Amino acid sequence: MANHKLLLLPGDGIGPEVTGQVEKIVSWFEKQGLGSFSLERGLVGGAAYDAHKQAISEGDMKLAQEADAVLFGAVGGPKWADVPYQHRPEAGLLRLRKDLGLFANLRPAICYPALASASSLKPEVVEGLDILIVRELTGGVYFGEPKEIVTLEDGSKRGVDTQLYTTGEIERICAVAFELARTRRNKVSSAEKHNVMKTGVLWKQTVTAQHARDYKDVELEHVLADNCAMQLVRWPKQYDVIVCDNLFGDILSDVAAMLTGSLGMLPSASLGAEDPATGKRKALYEPVHGSAPDIAGKGLANPIAMIGSFAMALRYSFGAGEAADRLEGAIADVLGAGTRTKDIAAPGANAVSTTEMGDAIVKALEARG
Ligand code: IPM
Ligand code: MN
Repeated sequence: MANHKLLLLPGDGIGPEVTGQVEKIVSWFEKQGLGSFSLERGLVGGAAYDAHKQAISEGDMKLAQEADAVLFGAVGGPKWADVPYQHRPEAGLLRLRKDLGLFANLRPAICYPALASASSLKPEVVEGLDILIVRELTGGVYFGEPKEIVTLEDGSKRGVDTQLYTTGEIERICAVAFELARTRRNKVSSAEKHNVMKTGVLWKQTVTAQHARDYKDVELEHVLADNCAMQLVRWPKQYDVIVCDNLFGDILSDVAAMLTGSLGMLPSASLGAEDPATGKRKALYEPVHGSAPDIAGKGLANPIAMIGSFAMALRYSFGAGEAADRLEGAIADVLGAGTRTKDIAAPGANAVSTTEMGDAIVKALEARG
C-alpha cells in the first residue's frame, strides 16, 4: 500500500479543532488497513508568526513542497490585526498557493438533503444542489504587480492593485473546468466582467476560442460575474460548473457556501499542474470557512468542511475514490440521522460539539462496514 505524505497545517482559531477531527479519520482508515499515511505537522498564519515572526517558516514551506498533500485549517484573528502586512496570517496561505503553483481551486457546493431547511433560502431552491466553482487561484488581483500604497505629492495616498491575466493562465483553468464538466452535467458557465474589465474581455475571447477548438461537446455559457451572484441566490440549480478568476471566485464561492446551509459545510481542493514525469500534482485541501475566532476553542465549530476536504484529498491526491465516497457517505448518514453542530441546527434544537460530530462520522464510517 502506498504511503501518503500528509502535512497538517491547522493554523489559527477553529483550525486546530477541526483538523483534530480529521486526525481521527486518518487513524480510522489506517486501523482498517485502508490507507497508510505519514503525518507531519507545521504552523501557518498567526500561529507561525508567534513562533517564527513570519506567516509560514521556510522549514514548513519545504515540508509542503515534499508532501503529497497539505491539509490546511484556517488562519487569522484579531490577535494579529497589527502585524506587518507581509507577515499577516493570510500571507502564509497565499505563499503556499503561489509557491506550490496551486492554480486550480475546486469548490463544490452540495446541499445534503437533510440540510435543505438549514439554508436561508427556500428548501426547493437548494434541495439537491450540486454545483462546482472552479476558481483561478494564483493570478489576478491577488498577485498582480504593482500592488502598493503610494504617497502623492500633495500628501494624499493612492492604493493600487493590479488585475492581470495571460491567455495561458485563462486556458489552463478553463481546461480544468471543461474536463470536470465532462464528468458531471457537461455545462460550464464562465463568469467575468467583460463589460468593464480588459481582463474580462480577454477571458471571454480566450474561453470562447478554446471551447470551439477543444471542448465543443461541453455546453458553454458566459455570465457577468455580478449577474452570476444574483442567479446563485435566485435559482442556483441552473449551474453545473462555474469558472472564474481569483477574486470573483472568492466572492461567488462564499455565496455558494451559504446555499448549502452553512459556511461550515464547504470543502475545497487547490491543485497544481500534473508533473509529466510522476503524474502527481501538488495539492492543498482546505475548508472554505475562515478561522472564526469568536467561537474558537469552544467546541462549537462544524468540522464537516474540514473532513470533506480530507475526502477530496483521498479522491484527488491519493487515488482513493472509494474511500472518499465512503467518507462522504458517512457525512451524509450522520446528517441524515439528525446530528447537527450549532451552525446547522434548527433554532433551539440540540447541537453536538466539534468532537462529537467527528466521533459520529467515525462511527458512521464503521457502520458502513
Ligand atoms: C479563501 C479566503 C482567502 C482568500 C483569504 C484567507 C486570503 O477567503 O480561501 O476564500 O481570499 O482567498
Ligand atoms: Mn474567501
